[in-house]
Amino acid sequence: MNILIVAESCFGNTLTVARAVGSGLARALGEESITVLRPGEAPRELRSDIGLLLVGAPTHGFSMPRRQSREQAAEKGATGSDSVGVREWIAQVTAREDLRAVTFDTSVKMRFSPGSASKSAAKALKKRGFPQAERGQSFYVTGTAGPLADGEEQRAEAWGAQLAGALSEDGGGSR
Ligand SMILES: Cc1cc2nc3c(=O)[nH]c(=O)nc-3n(C[C@H](O)[C@H](O)[C@H](O)COP(=O)(O)O)c2cc1C
Repeated sequence: MNILIVAESCFGNTLTVARAVGSGLARALGEESITVLRPGEAPRELRSDIGLLLVGAPTHGFSMPRRQSREQAAEKGATGSDSVGVREWIAQVTAREDLRAVTFDTSVKMRFSPGSASKSAAKALKKRGFPQAERGQSFYVTGTAGPLADGEEQRAEAWGAQLAGALSEDGGGSR
C-alpha cells in the first residue's frame, strides 16, 4: 500500500512536519512506500494503490492558505510559498470515496482559535467527495516563520507511527 502526503508550506515548518509524519509511518510500516509531495506536484488522479492520503498546510486566517495570505507570508520573508496550495489541489483532485484522508496543520498556539487549516481541509475534502476525510492534528510553531515548538517534530513522528498502527488494526487501511 502506498501513502501520499500532500503538504503546503511557506516557511518550511509544515514540510518538516510532513516529513516527520512520513518517517513515523515508515518506521512503523517498514516496507510501505510513503511519498511527500507539494500540492503543485501531487497527482489529480489518485492511483488505486494509494491507501491513505494525508493533507497538511499552515493555518492562515483560521483556514487553509489563499493566494493573498501566501503573498502576505512572502512579505514576511517566506521564500517557499506554493502557487498551487492544498486549497487549489483539493478543488481539482478526483474524489475517491474509499480512501481514508487525514489532515494536519501548523499553527501558532492560541487560547482560542475559531478554525485551522486542518479543519477546513477536512471539510473541503468531504465536500469534494472524500467521505472518510477527518481532521488530524495541529502542530505548533513559535511564531509566523517558526520554528516548530520544542518536541513538535517528535510528536509528528509519533503521530505517524500511531496512524500506521490504526491502519494495521483496520486490516491494511481497507476501511
Ligand atoms: C498571512 C498569515 C496568516 C496567518 N494566520 C494564522 C492563523 O489564523 N492562526 C494561526 O494559528 N497562525 C496563523 N499564521 C501563522 C502560520 O500558521 C505559520 O506561519 C505557519 O504555521 C508556518 O508554517 P509554514 O512554515 O509551513 O509556512 C498565519 C501566518 C500568515 C503568514
